[in-house]
Amino acid sequence: MTLTAVVHDAAQVVTLETTDEDRADEADGEERTDGERDGDVHTELAVYEDAAVAVEDGRVARVGPTGPVTREFPPENAAHAVDANGKAVIPGFVDPHTHALFAGDRSDEFEAKLRGKTYQEILEDGGGILRTVRATREASDERLLANLLGHLDEMLAHGTTTVEVKSGYGLDTETELRMLELIDRADDRHPVDVVPTFMGAHAVPEGRSADEYVEEVVHDQIPAVESQGIAQFCDVFCEEGVFSVEQSRRVLEAGKEAGLTPKVHAEELARIGGTQLAAEVGATSADHLLHSTEEDVAALVENDVVPVLLPGTAFGLGADYADARQFVEAGADVAIATDFNPNCYSQSMGFAASLSCVEMGMTPAEALVAATTNAATALDLPAEVGTLQEGAPADIAVLDAPSYVHVPYNFGVNAVDTVLKGGEVVYRG
Ligand code: NIG
Ligand code: FE
Repeated sequence: MTLTAVVHDAAQVVTLETTDEDRADEADGEERTDGERDGDVHTELAVYEDAAVAVEDGRVARVGPTGPVTREFPPENAAHAVDANGKAVIPGFVDPHTHALFAGDRSDEFEAKLRGKTYQEILEDGGGILRTVRATREASDERLLANLLGHLDEMLAHGTTTVEVKSGYGLDTETELRMLELIDRADDRHPVDVVPTFMGAHAVPEGRSADEYVEEVVHDQIPAVESQGIAQFCDVFCEEGVFSVEQSRRVLEAGKEAGLTPKVHAEELARIGGTQLAAEVGATSADHLLHSTEEDVAALVENDVVPVLLPGTAFGLGADYADARQFVEAGADVAIATDFNPNCYSQSMGFAASLSCVEMGMTPAEALVAATTNAATALDLPAEVGTLQEGAPADIAVLDAPSYVHVPYNFGVNAVDTVLKGGEVVYRG
């Protein structure tokens, strides 16, 4: 065993561990007092004060009071000793929904939206996704990879240690495969873990009908993605004027046959039934959900579909936010994500957490759970990812602040000071 790291003297270590006691309490239907969550709580925050984390072979070996932990695991024997005096230590963020691989710049659309143009009007004028598709098709592999690595650097600096990245700015077999290949290369090259999602059904390419294009996705793209063997999920933009529920279902069913787990962009701009579809096809998550109803929420909970809320998108669009309380109170394991893309230009999970609290009514504790362990569930990752319980991968964010509450509280500012991935220090602010 190698002592990879010891993070010591922290004001606070938040592990979000799941204990047997929690499971017993849940089975007894007991109310929880910690974690401040109203729903079907699977995880408590478990906050240790004046605490340390010891890491062996890249995994959390011990969490507890600094004295006993550092006697058993002396920091001077560790490859990385991190003095966290006065600082809070939390699991690295898991960002379960991004479109972080693209070329071009759409900052002018931000201005157009501020002048009152809608997202759909921009899309209909050949802007929006289709404009990024043109820029992405034209860009070299080197350019695209450098763009993605730059965004991953920014995410890491903001405490994200695992991120999902979707294809979907290719909209043809060749470019979709190229995007997935580059996502895979970025995963190899960068300390942040990257989870690849195929999203050929992100928009209808110029000059095609949606039906015709869905046939291409089903008959050409999905088989090619299957033999390439990189993508883990298949996502679709189920939206008024983009792909209908039936078209989306065709794509997701074909993806499932090719071994790709479904995800759905649902009820972002209008309610057309994407949430129910997610429940029916057994999706891992349904994302956006700005217009979901009570029935939709119930269907997600019943079918263990993780609602992934993306408040940055509502912020950027000037739209109404999803009703997070509705999901939490129905017992859903709500996750949050940045949705980083040219239409929602923020790589910061901290900012998403601030919006979740101020605009969607979540508590800081709920936002932290949503940004870590629940986000890991939205990516089908092992249960310990997004926690600092013993045995979890030592993906750790050390804050330049004494409590985890500073993540949402210090809005617009990066609260992250140091990041460890698998116990290695990979970022220092
Ligand atoms: O999640 N809704 C579709 N996809 C992205 C937007 C992508 C873009 O505008 O480039 C989203 O918001
Ligand atoms: Fe998206």
